[in-house]
Amino acid sequence: MAIEIIATGKMVPPQRISNQDMAEKVDTDDEWIRSHTGIEARHIASADVAVSDLAVEAAWNTLKMAIDRAEVGEKSPEELAETLDLVVLGTTTQDFYGCPSTSCLIQNRLGAKKAAAMDVTVACSGFIYGLETAAALLSSDRRRGRALVIGAETLSRITDWDDRSTCVLFGDGAGAVLLEKRDGEGSIVPSEGGVPKRRGLVRTILGADGSGWEYLVIRRGGSRNPWKTGETVEKNPHVEMNGRAVYNFAVKVITETIARLMEEESLTIDDIARIVPHQANARIVQAAGKRLGIPEEKFFLNIAEYANTSSASIPIALDELNRSGKLRRGDLVITVGFGGGLTYGGNLIVW
Ligand code: UT7
Repeated sequence: MAIEIIATGKMVPPQRISNQDMAEKVDTDDEWIRSHTGIEARHIASADVAVSDLAVEAAWNTLKMAIDRAEVGEKSPEELAETLDLVVLGTTTQDFYGCPSTSCLIQNRLGAKKAAAMDVTVACSGFIYGLETAAALLSSDRRRGRALVIGAETLSRITDWDDRSTCVLFGDGAGAVLLEKRDGEGSIVPSEGGVPKRRGLVRTILGADGSGWEYLVIRRGGSRNPWKTGETVEKNPHVEMNGRAVYNFAVKVITETIARLMEEESLTIDDIARIVPHQANARIVQAAGKRLGIPEEKFFLNIAEYANTSSASIPIALDELNRSGKLRRGDLVITVGFGGGLTYGGNLIVW
């Protein structure tokens, strides 16, 4: 049995806000943002768009790809949606607070009538955790065969637009992959001069360090600190961040996770075609690459255009690589990320 990624998709809202645009809102400038983060722009959802709207578009684009590339026998995305067994959504910005889960809204709009649906709330690690959750459920249940794993965010709704140290960092978007459980050995792809490879998810590392919970936190609105009747709300619920602490954590866990994934499968960096990191800060990725002696070109970065889209950043990047033909069947791909919680993780995938 193999759990294979058979299609990808994304949806990024059209409204593009450049660093120059940000400099008109807060005391910042293009040079600071670029040099400290690698970000040049971010895309922001319009006021009438919720996270499920972005997620549903990314999901349809994924299902369309599976049809177009003849990965499945179904004739239309709608027909394919009906075969889904599971919808897993990584997000921190659900449509509704707590209930219902946003994945249920997505399941309903896709017409995925027989699918179970669940949200995974681990901040920016949402896609990595979501992929492993879906793969584990597919593996453990003989009846389950297909899952959509989505990472989607409207971070613009939980951003303090007066805080220059955070508001320049975030953007909105959604990305998705379609997973299929294939029997037997799954799809075997020949590799150059090596052992044939089985496509699919090979190994995942997941971790957490809750001692850092305060480094990325939305303080108001939860059971610890609920809104009170009659209270005047001065600011929308927003992320507060200790940037330096998150930065140090990120460099450490990214370095360790990449090294462990390779070590546990007896791989060297030459075996890896691409590393797709969470797009939070280009400097974090460069620092981790330097520690590991990995050339910068191994890492795929699109942070310049989209900024940090939290759990959407990895599936958006995977879709861009996949559609542009930069990933070939049989390529070994590592995803790696970190986020609030604090959480972290990585997946090793044969594409
Ligand atoms: O998905 C996970 C989410 N979060 C992260 O991944 C964030 C991880 N952390 C980081 O990426 C970096 O720590 C930041 C990009 C957030 C900050 O970069 P830094 O090099 O750690 O800057 P800093 O916080 O040490 O601030 C340096 C200076 C400060 O001024 P002073 O005190 O030295 O005068 C800040 O006030 O930069 C100032 N500053 C800015 N200046 C212009 C902070 N934000 C801005 C800004 N524009 N937007």
